[in-house]
Amino acid sequence: MNPILEAQLNHRSIRSYTDKPIDATLLHELIRHAQGAASSSFIQAYSIIRVNNKTSRQTIASVAGGQHWVKSAAEFLIICADLRRVEMACVNQELGALEGNTEHFISATVDAALMAQNLMLGAESEGLGAVFIGGIRNDPEKVSELLDLPDQVYPVFGLCLGWPDAIPELKPRLPVDVILHDESYDKDRTASDIAAYDEQIEHYYKERGSNQRSSNWSEQTAKAVQKKKREHMLEFLQKQGFVKC
Ligand SMILES: Cc1cc2nc3c(=O)[nH]c(=O)nc-3n(C[C@H](O)[C@H](O)[C@H](O)COP(=O)(O)O)c2cc1C
Repeated sequence: MNPILEAQLNHRSIRSYTDKPIDATLLHELIRHAQGAASSSFIQAYSIIRVNNKTSRQTIASVAGGQHWVKSAAEFLIICADLRRVEMACVNQELGALEGNTEHFISATVDAALMAQNLMLGAESEGLGAVFIGGIRNDPEKVSELLDLPDQVYPVFGLCLGWPDAIPELKPRLPVDVILHDESYDKDRTASDIAAYDEQIEHYYKERGSNQRSSNWSEQTAKAVQKKKREHMLEFLQKQGFVKC
C-alpha cells in the first residue's frame, strides 16, 4: 500500500502526549502542506489561530467540557472559517458585502475542514498525534472573544497536536458497502446496515485494550445527538455575519 493510503487507514485520535515540543519549522511546513487542499472557487476561506498562552488553553479546555488534552498538547490550533478577506475583496471590487449568504458559509466551513484534515494527516505522517476539538463550540462566543475574532470569522473546531504518549486501537469504520450507493440512494438497507454495524462495534467496545464498555454504534450516536445540540449556534453564526440569508 502506498504511504498516503496507509496513513489514512492508520488514523486514530490521540489525546495523550509526551512533553516534547513540535519544532516551529515543522509546524510551519505542515500548515503549508495542508494549504494544498482544494478550495471552493479558490477563496481559501480559513485562518488558524495558534494558542500557546496557558490561561487561554485552560479557558478553552473548560469550554470544551474539561478536555485536558487541550492543555497538554504541544500545539493547540483553532481552525476558523474566515470570509473576512473574501468580503474585503468584494468591497474593494465595488461588488458589495457578502450579506451572510448561507452558501458562502458552507464553502468557508468546507474549505476550513478540508485544510484541517490535510493538516491532521500530514502531522500523522510525521509521527505526530492529533485530535479535533469540536467542544470549543460549547461556547463559541467566549472562544471568539478570547481570540478577538472579527466579523466574518468563526471557530469551527480546535486541533491538538503532539507527540503520542500512547497509541489507542483503530476504531472500525462503517463498511464501504454501507456508505457507497450505486446510481441512487438505497433506502431499503438502512436498518440491516445499522444492525450489522452495531454488532461489529459492540464487539470492538468489548474487546478493545482500554476503556471497555458494553455499547454499540446506535446507542453512542443517539446519546451524542440527543437534545437539540448547541442551540446557540445559529444566533452566534448570525452575530459573526454568517447564515443571514
Ligand atoms: C469535527 C470533529 C470534532 C471532534 N471533537 C472532538 C472533541 O471535542 N473531543 C475529542 O476528544 N474528540 C473529538 N473528535 C474526535 C472524534 O471523537 C473521533 O474522530 C471519532 O470518535 C473516531 O475516532 P478516531 O478519530 O480515533 O478514529 C472530533 C472529531 C471531529 C471530526
